Amino acid sequence: MWQINGYKILAVVLVFLVWMLCFRMYWPDSTTIHRPPGPHPVFRHASKSTESPPFWDSLPQELTNLTSLLYWPPTPGDGGDLLASTSPQTSTYHLRGPAQATYELGGLLEVILVARDHWGRPKSHGGDLFQARLLGPESKAGVPGDVQDLENGTYLVSIPLLWVGKAQVQMRLIHSSEAVGVLRRIWREKRATVDFRGYFQGMKGAKETVVCNVDPHSTGVKGPTCQYRDVVSGELWFCAQPPTLPCNSLVGHSAGSYLKVTTRHDEALLAWNVTDKLLPQGIPPILVSPAAHWNIVLALPPRPPCHPGLKSPKPSGFYYQNTWHSLSCSGRTFPTADSILGCLAGRVVHMIGDSTLRQWWEYLRDTVPSMKSVDLHVTYQAGPLMAVETTRGIVLHWRAHSWPLRTARTSVASLHSVARELGGLAGGPYTVVVLGLGAHFTTFPPSIFVRRLAGIRAAVMALLAREPSTLVVIKLANTGYKSVYGSDWLTLQVNRLLRAAFAGLRVAFVDAWDMTSSLALPDSIHPGRLIVQNEVALFLSFICPT
Ligand SMILES: *[C@@H]1O[C@H](CO)[C@@H](O)[C@H](O)[C@H]1NC(C)=O
Ligand SMILES: *[C@@H]1O[C@H](CO)[C@@H](O)[C@H](O)[C@H]1NC(C)=O
Ligand SMILES: *[C@@H]1O[C@H](CO)[C@@H](O)[C@H](O)[C@H]1NC(C)=O
Repeated sequence: MWQINGYKILAVVLVFLVWMLCFRMYWPDSTTIHRPPGPHPVFRHASKSTESPPFWDSLPQELTNLTSLLYWPPTPGDGGDLLASTSPQTSTYHLRGPAQATYELGGLLEVILVARDHWGRPKSHGGDLFQARLLGPESKAGVPGDVQDLENGTYLVSIPLLWVGKAQVQMRLIHSSEAVGVLRRIWREKRATVDFRGYFQGMKGAKETVVCNVDPHSTGVKGPTCQYRDVVSGELWFCAQPPTLPCNSLVGHSAGSYLKVTTRHDEALLAWNVTDKLLPQGIPPILVSPAAHWNIVLALPPRPPCHPGLKSPKPSGFYYQNTWHSLSCSGRTFPTADSILGCLAGRVVHMIGDSTLRQWWEYLRDTVPSMKSVDLHVTYQAGPLMAVETTRGIVLHWRAHSWPLRTARTSVASLHSVARELGGLAGGPYTVVVLGLGAHFTTFPPSIFVRRLAGIRAAVMALLAREPSTLVVIKLANTGYKSVYGSDWLTLQVNRLLRAAFAGLRVAFVDAWDMTSSLALPDSIHPGRLIVQNEVALFLSFICPT
C-alpha cells in the first residue's frame, strides 16, 4: 500500500513538473507574449483607461510645444456687448504706399487693414481672422495674400503681383477675434463637440446601440466603458458599455449628434450675418504691367521639378487661366485621360483620409473612362473603394481614416487606422500613398489630433525607411467650414499640426488650403471640379515630374 502510494505521489509530482515545464514553455504569461510581426487583432477592451500618450517622444520638437505652434494673439472678447466685436462693415483697408498708375509684375502690393467694431471704433487688439486675395477675373487668376496681425487692431497684408493685367484686392472677415475667442475656448476646453454611435450585435441577433467617443467622459455615461486600442498605433476609442452585450461585439459605427456647446452670445458672434463677409472695397482695381524689357505674363521663379521634401513658400502658388501654378515646383497639367493614364501606369495608389480626398479618387474615376470602379458592397461614405485600369495596370484605393469619422453607419471591421494601413504596405517606386486628414478632427481638442499624427508620422517614417522610393503625399485640409464644429480657423490650426507632424520628412504637400482660398468661388468643404482638378494635377506632378 505504502509503496503504491509512494509511486503514485512520485508520478503525480513528475506529471506536475512536466506539465509546469510545458506550460511555461508553450503558455507563457500573457504579459510576456512577444507576437511575431503580422496581422494583430485590432481591439482590446478594458473598463478603464490608464494610457499615457504613446509616441509622444518621437514627435518633432515643434509638435510637442503646442503653445508656440498654435499661437494666436489674445482675444479679450467683447465684454458682453456684441457691437464691440469686429465688424466687416466698418473695417477698412487702404494701400500702404501711394497709389500708382501701374504696378510692376513680380512686385509686392502692401495693404493696411484697420479693424473696427460695429460702432466704427478702431480695435485695439488683434486676433481677427481676415482673408485677403488678389483676383484677376479677366485672366481667371487669383492668389491668396499674407495677413500679418500686428496685434493692435491693424493688419499688414502682402500680396505678390504674379500676372500681367487687371487685378482687384478682395478682403473678407471670416471671424471676428471675439468669434475666434469662442472657437478657441471650446476647442481647448471641450473634450468633444460631437458624439458617435456604436452598434453591438450578439450571437443570437441581439442588438444594442450606445454612444461612443474619443475619450471615456464624452460617451455620456458615468458607468463602465469599453476601450478599443489599436495595437499598432495605440489609438484609443471608447463606447459606453452596452447593457447586456460584451465589449467585443461592437460591429458598427456612425456619426451621432452635434453637442450643444455654445451660449446665445457665442452664437451671435458666429452667426452668418457676421461670418465670411466681404469688407467694403478699399482699393480700386490695379493694373500690373510687365517689368521693363521683359515680355512675360507670369512672374514665375525658376523652380525644380516637383519632388517630395520641398519647402513650401507663402503663398504656395496661384491661379492663372484657372490653372494652379505652384511656386515651389514646376507642376504639370494633365488635360487628357491619356496623360493621366500615362502618369499612373503601373502604380498602386493608396488614398487614406476623408471625403475631401475621396474627391480625388472620384475625379480620377470620372475623368478616365477606362478606369472602372469595383463595387465592394460597402458604405460608400467610408469605403474602402477601389478603381482599376487593367490595360495600364493601375489600382486606386481610397479608404476613410478611422475614428473619429463622421459617417453613415459603417462596419467597424473596415475602419482601419492609418498607421496600421501604412504598416501593411511594402512600398516601392510604384507605391503612392496619399493622406488627407483634418476635417474630422476639428471637433476635439488639439491633443487628439496630435496623438493621431504622432502614430502616423512614425508609420510614414518606417515606410520610407523600408522603401525610400515610396511617394508619400499629404493633402492639407481645405477651407469651407464656418461653424463651431468646423471652421476655417480650426482648419488653420489643424494644418499647422499637419505641417509640423511631417516636417523634415521626404513627403510632398498639396496645399489645398491655398488652392481653395484663391478664387472667388463659393466656399465649400467639398470644393468644385475646377479646384479638385488642380489639386489632382499637382498630385500627379509629384508622381510624374517631367
Ligand atoms: C513653448 O513655447 C512658448 C512660446 O514660444 C515658450 O514660452 C515655452 O517656454 C515653450 N515651452 C517649452 C516646453 O519649450
Ligand atoms: C500698430 O503696430 C504697428 C507695428 O508695431 C505700428 O506701426 C502701428 O503704428 C500701430 N498702429 C496703431 C493704431 O497703434
Ligand atoms: C446677426 O444676427 C444675430 C442673430 O441672428 C443678431 O442677434 C445680431 O444682432 C445680428 N448682427 C448684426 C450685426 O446684424
